[in-house]
Amino acid sequence: MQIQIFRYDTIDSTNSEAMRQAKLGAEEGLCIIADEQTAGRGRHGRTWISEKDSGLYLSILLRPTLPTELTPLITLMSAVSVHQALAKSGVAADIKWVNDLLVGDKKICGILAEATATPNGLAVVVGIGINLRDGNFPSELAATATSIEALTGTSPDRDLLAGNLVDAIRANYKILQSPQGPAEIRRMWTERSSYADGKSVTVRTDGEVFAGITRGIEENGALRVETAEGAVKIVQAGDVERLRSTQ
Ligand code: BTN
Repeated sequence: MQIQIFRYDTIDSTNSEAMRQAKLGAEEGLCIIADEQTAGRGRHGRTWISEKDSGLYLSILLRPTLPTELTPLITLMSAVSVHQALAKSGVAADIKWVNDLLVGDKKICGILAEATATPNGLAVVVGIGINLRDGNFPSELAATATSIEALTGTSPDRDLLAGNLVDAIRANYKILQSPQGPAEIRRMWTERSSYADGKSVTVRTDGEVFAGITRGIEENGALRVETAEGAVKIVQAGDVERLRSTQ
């Protein structure tokens, strides 16, 4: 995959721009980075606060050739890539299923993967927001979010982080698309996530709320959760509104 980076001072949303370019026929590897987003988007229709220079706001366009049922593994691959890039910035994170990066109980990165049909086939845009500094967090976020600067005590080099992240995505995407790749990505994800196995959680989906213990992931990255009655429920990424650790 050839990486082509476009940088903006300000943009509505790097994901929106990558989606627009995907529909116009852009090739995979297109990467949009902005200093600031005026309409940053999170999952479940939430806003992603994107103050100038407070975060790395990056989206990358992929045109995967994976079997469709394995497309959700792109989000796991992305979380592994962020985990590796953060490690190079001195931050040891945990991956909360399916693709939030936490340090302790505080979120340092969110990932929004969006798929769309385009004239050149399926496009997947992976949008990554990493908190660089937390000076601008509104009070409601201060208790639940953290940043590289807060954790390391030094001002992170955003370009270095972006470079490490893009390198990791390129390498891991290549692995994912290779014959044994899906299993390898599941292994890499599992190794980096305390949520993979034996975690006590509460799951809130559209239709129900239940508690249980995590019991590994399925082929497509869905989470197995064993309830107190001994039933194993399979939670698909799209189903979950909220997954809470209850430990
Ligand atoms: C989440 O945890 O809810 C996902 C947040 C994803 C935020 C990133 S920032 C870069 C890209 N552009 C967006 O509008 N959203 C993603």
